[in-house]
Amino acid sequence: MYPPFNPYRFVKAENETHHWHGGSALRTQYFNALSMCFPELERRMIHSVRTTVGTCGDRPPVRALQGRALDFIAQEASHSQVHSRLNTHRVNPSWPVLVNLWPKQLIARRHWLSNLARTCAIEHFTTLLAVYLFRHPALFSHVPPDIRDLWLWHAAEEIEHRSLALDLYRAAEGGYVRRIGYFLLIFVTANLMVLAQTLSNLAHDRQVFKARTWQDALALFWGRQGLAWFIVRHLPAYLQPGYSPNDHHREECDAAMRWLSAHRRSRQETASGESRMHHATSPSDETVQGN
Ligand SMILES: [Fe+2]
Ligand SMILES: [Fe+2]
Repeated sequence: MYPPFNPYRFVKAENETHHWHGGSALRTQYFNALSMCFPELERRMIHSVRTTVGTCGDRPPVRALQGRALDFIAQEASHSQVHSRLNTHRVNPSWPVLVNLWPKQLIARRHWLSNLARTCAIEHFTTLLAVYLFRHPALFSHVPPDIRDLWLWHAAEEIEHRSLALDLYRAAEGGYVRRIGYFLLIFVTANLMVLAQTLSNLAHDRQVFKARTWQDALALFWGRQGLAWFIVRHLPAYLQPGYSPNDHHREECDAAMRWLSAHRRSRQETASGESRMHHATSPSDETVQGN
């Protein structure tokens, strides 16, 4: 599922500004903020899925999902790793990562089913963001190719595993009230967290008091096809008792799966090409013995 090499190097080209998102400070620092939150959030989501499988993996409905749960864990672990690398290359290491300041004891004390409900809610938001990226591919058209591919790859895999957390939650007999309670809580806290991280990045970047920053914010979030409108419009679906992410956004999900297959194919080809090159340039045993 995940070829054993990573094509994303994130090396900055010579004349490239550090505002990698098409020269926009706002878009750069917003996506940097998301990327800074991901490693910690994904670690927590992995923990919640692993704990659920460990706690009630003997129940047949949960056991039936074990394979998909392992795929989910592998995907989130690789997202976390690659975003950490992007952050190392593209974010000033002295800037604070606010999500890491959140007290970890609170999460450890929470019931495992509540942590899973929280994961379901975060997965709903990451799926909506992923669908938005595939609905508006032009948003990343002025982004360096390896950074663009990282975001599309992450978005496509979010779409691929979009129903696992919720399926697992239901298989573990998680109830409606807990699911919706954590959804509302996450809606407020996750948005505040990303907003605070974006503002913190912009402040460290000395871009808060620039007109262009706020123009770009209006266009990205509240423009005619803005991200905030899109998310607000698709929030209520999650409140339906029988909600399934598989019943929504078919067109974008199909586009994401096509993109992902082509991407994986090209990565496999590059990997086998590199390994052929490696064998061709390595000295053979005979040459070594001859010397
Ligand atoms: Fe992820
Ligand atoms: Fe995910």
